[in-house]
Amino acid sequence: MKNAFIRAMHYRHACKLFDTEKEIRKSEMQAILEFGRLSPSSFGMEPWRFVVIKDPELKGKLQPLCWNQPQITTCSDLVLIKSIVAPLAPGSDYSRKMLGRRDLPQEKIEAYHRIYDDFAAHKLATEGLFCWSSRQCYIAAANMMTGAAMMGIDSCPIEGFEKEKIEALLQIDPAHEELALIVAFGYRVKEAPEKIRLPLEEIVEYR
Ligand SMILES: Cc1cc2nc3c(=O)[nH]c(=O)nc-3n(C[C@H](O)[C@H](O)[C@H](O)COP(=O)(O)O)c2cc1C
Repeated sequence: MKNAFIRAMHYRHACKLFDTEKEIRKSEMQAILEFGRLSPSSFGMEPWRFVVIKDPELKGKLQPLCWNQPQITTCSDLVLIKSIVAPLAPGSDYSRKMLGRRDLPQEKIEAYHRIYDDFAAHKLATEGLFCWSSRQCYIAAANMMTGAAMMGIDSCPIEGFEKEKIEALLQIDPAHEELALIVAFGYRVKEAPEKIRLPLEEIVEYR
């Protein structure tokens, strides 16, 4: 298992160009979405929402809004990861519903609501709800990309895009949800370049 995971970590790279002749099977794409769904999130709020785009015309409209990157139109499945915003506000129906799913006595759930409300109010007043929730979308994205690599499927995370213009094109209401990240999935046309990473000694400290 450890070997399979490390192999996938090495296999995954930010694929710049996909083979337009190869489409990801629906069952495999479902598995990739499932890796996202099963990801951890703060307070279990699952703030991610996935928009899967296969339509070439829509990909063509998105490409100029994504720095004209070729991954957008050559990939098999383009996944836009939106992050919910307003539903995370303190006291919201959504947060109540999500916290209430646990099998706990009512007074414990009430106490949990209070802790969540304080926490979310602090986020709202400091970094903002989108900043907080989008970080969790990145965890889902990472799991989806590594999981895809385990199945021999390539990906590219994409942050190079014009957020407001894409939200307008797809009629995403930023009061409710915002675009966090785009991930393109497909199959490479050429071998991945050698991995470049800092050595562990430079990034790890023990105390
Ligand atoms: C949040 C994030 C945003 C990124 N945005 C882009 C992008 O817009 N276009 C692109 O070609 N690569 C993008 N990358 C890929 C990185 O450049 C790449 O992961 C890094 O250089 C390491 O290379 P590797 O992933 O091939 O190992 C992004 C990566 C991350 C994590």
